[in-house]
Amino acid sequence: MPDIESLLSEKRVFEASREFRKNAHWGRKQVAALRKEGEKNPVRFWEKMAREHVDWFSKWKKGLDWKPPQAKWFVGAKTNVSYNCLDRHLTGSNAHRRNKAAIIWEGEPGDTRVITYAELHREVCKFANVLKGLGVKKGDRVALYMPMVPELAIAMLACTRIGAPHSIVFGGFSAEALRDRVEDAGAEVVVTADGGYRRGEPFALKPAVDDAVSGKSPVRHVVVVKRTGEGATMRKGRDLWWHELMEGASAKCPPAKLDAEHPLFILYTSGTTGKPKGILHTTGGYLTHVTTTAKAIFDLKEEDTYWCTADIGWITGHSYVVYGILANGATSLMYEGVPTHPGPDRWWDIIERWGVTIFYTAPTAIRTFIRLGDEHPKAHDLSSLRLLGSVGEPINPEAWMWYHRVIGGKRCPIVDTWWQTETGGIMITPLPGAVNTKPGSATLPFPGVHAAILSEEGDTVKPPDGGFLAVTHPWPGMLRGIWGDKKRFRETYWSKWKNSTHRGKDRGGVYFPGDGAHKDKGGYFWIMGRVDDVMNISGHRIGTMEVESALVSHKDVAEAAVVGRPDEITGTAIVAFVTPKGGKQAGTALTKALRDHVAKEIGPIAKPKDIRFTEALPKTRSGKIMRRLLRDIAAGKETVGDTTTLEDYSVVARLRGDEE
Ligand code: WTA
Repeated sequence: MPDIESLLSEKRVFEASREFRKNAHWGRKQVAALRKEGEKNPVRFWEKMAREHVDWFSKWKKGLDWKPPQAKWFVGAKTNVSYNCLDRHLTGSNAHRRNKAAIIWEGEPGDTRVITYAELHREVCKFANVLKGLGVKKGDRVALYMPMVPELAIAMLACTRIGAPHSIVFGGFSAEALRDRVEDAGAEVVVTADGGYRRGEPFALKPAVDDAVSGKSPVRHVVVVKRTGEGATMRKGRDLWWHELMEGASAKCPPAKLDAEHPLFILYTSGTTGKPKGILHTTGGYLTHVTTTAKAIFDLKEEDTYWCTADIGWITGHSYVVYGILANGATSLMYEGVPTHPGPDRWWDIIERWGVTIFYTAPTAIRTFIRLGDEHPKAHDLSSLRLLGSVGEPINPEAWMWYHRVIGGKRCPIVDTWWQTETGGIMITPLPGAVNTKPGSATLPFPGVHAAILSEEGDTVKPPDGGFLAVTHPWPGMLRGIWGDKKRFRETYWSKWKNSTHRGKDRGGVYFPGDGAHKDKGGYFWIMGRVDDVMNISGHRIGTMEVESALVSHKDVAEAAVVGRPDEITGTAIVAFVTPKGGKQAGTALTKALRDHVAKEIGPIAKPKDIRFTEALPKTRSGKIMRRLLRDIAAGKETVGDTTTLEDYSVVARLRGDEE
């Protein structure tokens, strides 16, 4: 029996127009040649990409140094990410970009800012000097907890300029979540804002920072951007206004010449335990990966207006709102607010007004818009669009078709891109001018990326059977570690197939992403979703354990188990099974209290959609919660699995409601 059953069979195939194929950076012939190179010698392939797409202060001695699970790319080379994203667009043959829009920003209330490359360079240099003035040195971590305002991109680039790794915490996370991440990274400076706008209302951010850095904390300074003007409590000596610091700052700041393996950023992501993992990325390899993929996959041209709707607080925003796009000298659009304010057509209005040509979003958003009705996109002229992208979760073929028809007007290729926080950049994807697409398939690995479908034992699974997705050769954007936790790094990602013969000499050298997938007979990859205890809610990763620990930290909860169930809009919805403490009344008041509690502990995105109270949870004799069973119950499926190890079968009967 295959490890994972695959049920989908999709026959439709789409080809980009002749014109698109003719004009694409990477056409069919070139891609065929690059694939061959990448297959034969991935290191040489990536070295070529590194020479073509990145400027280096000094060259590497060795392309890759691989001692599983530790990789070093471009050993000994020196570069700087902010230099590649800014300085190199201001001089020589690129000087025409000086006054080109680097960022087109639109706030939710409708205010806009267009920031040119020259201006962005100036702001970044100034803020880099501000950071230096606050005592931030090469290697020091800086936490960024901000709404989607240009200052976030400025702060990131300023960090990279001086070699201070940033750790961005999504603005929707709670004070508790921020505290954990700031402490884990040992950040001494936090950059934030008084607040931002959501659904037409200002919301405050600074109070969460005050909470997060209260008591014992590594934080010495908090820099506050004035966005809403609603005010913020400023603690003397610790808290400083961005605009006041910038007033006196010099605009001269040479980029630090950093080692290719110098830490670039930490980004926390959920895993299978309660503690988020600080995913570490470094400089040269990451930059090569995101710059190359952004250019080839989005076919970025000088005149494009590119819009990725992801928040910069997630990896998609890091790699494909900021770094990959600016490194190509392209124009990146940033929008601050919710997609449906003031009306359900806000996004389509933005596309029409700015003439967006490339649009990259998530299946959850697409499904939401399908439900809102075709009339909203149809009320706008979307003819500027020439390419669409999807990321974050499997896109169901019907959502793909709607995206193709209603948004893309049947003329735009769709690139369904599979990757992760850990991979740094896109790994499996169509190349729009060279690869035919099938709705729901991420198609083929990017040239130079080696992916396979393996069985539990590490053997190759033959198409069309399902198995575990695996990456069998190092790639430049790969994570270099989990911040402060070498053991977890090895165990989570590099231990599944340590005895596999798949790569002979590289024992422990096969990467396990945690996704199930299968290949069809044509060699196309179909991603089937997570195979571990990580849920994908609206394209955001949330660990079941994190939500469970949040629930049991509530005073009225004795025990909790969390599972995902399929949801039409968000892909997966969180269902919690909760045993209240003796004498506590289960009911709507407790449901509300628990949902609020999870929002406070983690953030609103982690709130369970459904909370079911139960006197006991189904467990095996060894005391393990039977999640598979709970998943079936949550999904309303009849339980067919083996329940002979069940400690108390009546618990299941009650959870299902058999006895009511
Ligand atoms: C899922 C987001 C199917 C997958 C860039 C992965 C996808 C997790 C796709 C990473 C896709 C991402 N098709 N599934 N095109 N893209 N995923 O770290 O389960 O937030 O492991 O990175 O999202 O989520 P992360």
